[in-house]
Amino acid sequence: MNSAIIDPSDYTRTLNLAELFPTSAPLEIDVGCGKGRFLAARAKRLPEFNFLGIDRLLARLRRVDKKIWRDALSNVRLLRLEAAYTIAYLLPAASVSMFHVFFPDPWPKRRHHRRRLFTETFPSDLHRVLRPGGQINVATDHADYFAHIHSLLASDTRYTEIEPFAPCPEERTDFEVLFLNKGDPVSRCSFKKRT
Ligand SMILES: C[S@@+](CC[C@H](N)C(=O)[O-])C[C@H]1O[C@@H](n2cnc3c(N)ncnc32)[C@H](O)[C@@H]1O
Repeated sequence: MNSAIIDPSDYTRTLNLAELFPTSAPLEIDVGCGKGRFLAARAKRLPEFNFLGIDRLLARLRRVDKKIWRDALSNVRLLRLEAAYTIAYLLPAASVSMFHVFFPDPWPKRRHHRRRLFTETFPSDLHRVLRPGGQINVATDHADYFAHIHSLLASDTRYTEIEPFAPCPEERTDFEVLFLNKGDPVSRCSFKKRT
């Protein structure tokens, strides 16, 4: 294999994770992984976990792919696809240990809110694929979108709020580094699947 970017033969069938990764391990998903600063650093530090990075922009995934190959990381796969579709239809039930949703596009205009990743149904889609005790980590610089995401998850009795995931400096995402350098505030929250 000369690329971590996967190309499922059938985009309507559940992914076979055992075929995707060389070893069976807890799976973390970086939703909208962008240029992959976080994904590559975390996968390198945690070789006993598997990682799937999802992004709809191929150019960004190609940049992540280079990092993955430079560091010979066999525990990472990349998927170029709409993340909401992937989570709702392609991931097996109870297969994911952790979702990282860092700096999702905020679509600030009200008429564009329907394009946001976090819709009313997204918590249910996440719940289906999370293992019991599985975790969702969110970070964003956009205060309104953060309030919306937090309220969706906090009002869902299938989740319990936990201490926000705090990345070590080398695992800050590309966007997080930009915002921190500008001095912009970043909001974070984490939730755990109860049942
Ligand atoms: C603002 S960037 C953040 C990237 C990265 N998480 C970071 O913090 O540096 C959002 C990324 O999510 C991707 N993205 C946005 N909506 C998406 C969707 N619905 N499905 C897949 N990727 C998406 C974009 O292409 C972009 O790379």
